[in-house]
Amino acid sequence: MRTHYCGELNKSHKNKEVILCGWAHRRRDHGGVIFIDLRDREGLAQIVIDPDTPEAFKIAETIRNEFVLEVTCKVRLRPEGTINLNLPTGEIEMLASKVKILNESHTPPFMLDDETISEAVRLEYRFIDLRREVMQKNLKIRHNVSKSVRNFLDLEGFIELETPILNRSTPEGARDYLVPSRIHHGNFFALPQSPQLFKQILMVSGFDRYYQIAKCFRDEDLRADRQPEFTQIDIEASFINEKNIIEISENMIMQTFSSAMDITLPKSFPKISYKEAMSRYGSDKPDLRVTLELVELTEEMKDVDFKVFSSAANMKNGRVAALKIPGGATLSRSEIDEYTEFVKIYGAKGLAYIKVNDKNILNEEGLQSPIVKNIHTKALQSIIEKTNSENGDLIFFGADKIKVVNEALGALRVKIGHAKKHINDMEWAPLWVVDFPMFDYDENSDTWNALHHPFTSPQDGHEEYLDSDPGKCLSKAYDMVINGWELGGGSIRIHKSELQSKVFKALGISKKEAKEKFGFLLDALQYGAPPHGGVAFGLDRLITLLVRSDSIRDVIAFPKTQKAQCLMTQSPNEVDEKQLKELNIKLRASNIQQKND
Ligand code: AMO
Ligand code: AMP
Repeated sequence: MRTHYCGELNKSHKNKEVILCGWAHRRRDHGGVIFIDLRDREGLAQIVIDPDTPEAFKIAETIRNEFVLEVTCKVRLRPEGTINLNLPTGEIEMLASKVKILNESHTPPFMLDDETISEAVRLEYRFIDLRREVMQKNLKIRHNVSKSVRNFLDLEGFIELETPILNRSTPEGARDYLVPSRIHHGNFFALPQSPQLFKQILMVSGFDRYYQIAKCFRDEDLRADRQPEFTQIDIEASFINEKNIIEISENMIMQTFSSAMDITLPKSFPKISYKEAMSRYGSDKPDLRVTLELVELTEEMKDVDFKVFSSAANMKNGRVAALKIPGGATLSRSEIDEYTEFVKIYGAKGLAYIKVNDKNILNEEGLQSPIVKNIHTKALQSIIEKTNSENGDLIFFGADKIKVVNEALGALRVKIGHAKKHINDMEWAPLWVVDFPMFDYDENSDTWNALHHPFTSPQDGHEEYLDSDPGKCLSKAYDMVINGWELGGGSIRIHKSELQSKVFKALGISKKEAKEKFGFLLDALQYGAPPHGGVAFGLDRLITLLVRSDSIRDVIAFPKTQKAQCLMTQSPNEVDEKQLKELNIKLRASNIQQKND
């Protein structure tokens, strides 16, 4: 129907007859002349409808926002003084000879350029929301990134293979989405949390280098960087080591940043160990733009009178740490209260602090704080020295189980770092976190859980800890982190069935359960499995970073809400009794009650 897109026209098209199709973005009546900003995928074009063309003018008078139009027009230069250099097509306008309304539109529930509209309304009317320039741009970048990634991996010899969506459950640590089987009553498929086991099997089958832009499903608590349904750039290769995967990944991400957004990332990302990341930043995905760091004080606080500190310091798995805020003595009481409330989200019971008025006076006079009177001079001295405090600084403290202190101070570090501009001049701070422990101890169930997943290989020489001291066993896993976001992660896998069985045992998975759940993997490992490993990147997170957004919902065409619902299609939804019957599923009385309420 069209000869050109609105947004592609410029001065060089002067005097050309064109046919444009799109949406009426805005209509303005200017003393007898009607202007319509016609919008399509590529941008806006200003259409001028003159009363000299009475037929077109009559139609133009009836046009409202979001009507769909086909306009035949001639390109002309805008008169002096009406040029709009903010618009790519701002030097020209189109004089219409014919206007056709292809479809009308109800008055939209919001104007496309209304920034105040709530996300709930935007998601309910996603078909309109996606017309906004920013959403069009984000999704185009997403397309470009997928294309560039495919191209990169193809040139590196990776082949794209699909793996099933209806699956046996793959453990990635989240809850599964289940699909009931109509044919096998009482049996369920699980939607894949990732293609993990299939990509390993593809290595056993000799494909050597696999990738897939794969949909993954995880029923977990949602946050700004998580969706129940998301996309991974999933990669696996044979006969390689960590160094090889890290190099391929870095090149892929660097090329993507460069081709999609013309951003040059620093060459060769720094690597830090999990232990160091937790100790200095309280997080395994540290935002290295923030210059604040946690300071270890556990030893020094063992014998102080302040019980909150000494009991945490003497507790098994306890930690006392400080976070110094340079110049923080200017923080107001209400700001400190706000931060105290903030750390409670992470389970902290309080947020002790010292305002350093005079670092040489080691008592309440120099160090303004309710806790100083219960901390002896030597410990105060250590606090000042280890945090490298100067007069005018403020020191926050966390004292609790290591996990609580790390999560609370780690989050506080990022919050204050950005709010009070304790940041360096790096716009992009990528790194690798390496040397992860194999297992994480869960006190509640007294079990060891896989920190990455159960198919991750222990580091050379660490196999012996599997029985004797699982907590000491490090793995061949690695995560790529950029600006505090975990962008990707992977590992070298176990390729021998005996070792895999040993790891299952350490995880408390019985032989019977292992056979039942992962029998096919254990089998496959016995038929000539090559050494292999891989990685997966969150495509949604990658695009979110690239477009400098803070929510992955802004780069997914049809995302779910924080409550895992689609507001446009109103799902999940109830199903017919007939459908349930076919599946041999009966709802519990409480659900039926809810339905009737
Ligand atoms: P992992 O579980 O670390 O590893 O996931 C890899 C990457 O996927 C992204 N991601 C998510 N993105 C959006 N919403 C979510 N709910 C979500 N969960 C994960 C993150 C993360 O870094 N099979 C392994 C990979 C491997 O070992 O090769 C895996 O899935 O960016
Ligand atoms: P309290 O003795 O409860 O009055 O606490 C004195 C100070 O210690 C207050 O500033 C509390 O916020 C802080 N505090 C209490 N528990 C902790 C904790 N576990 N870690 C850090 N600070 C704490």
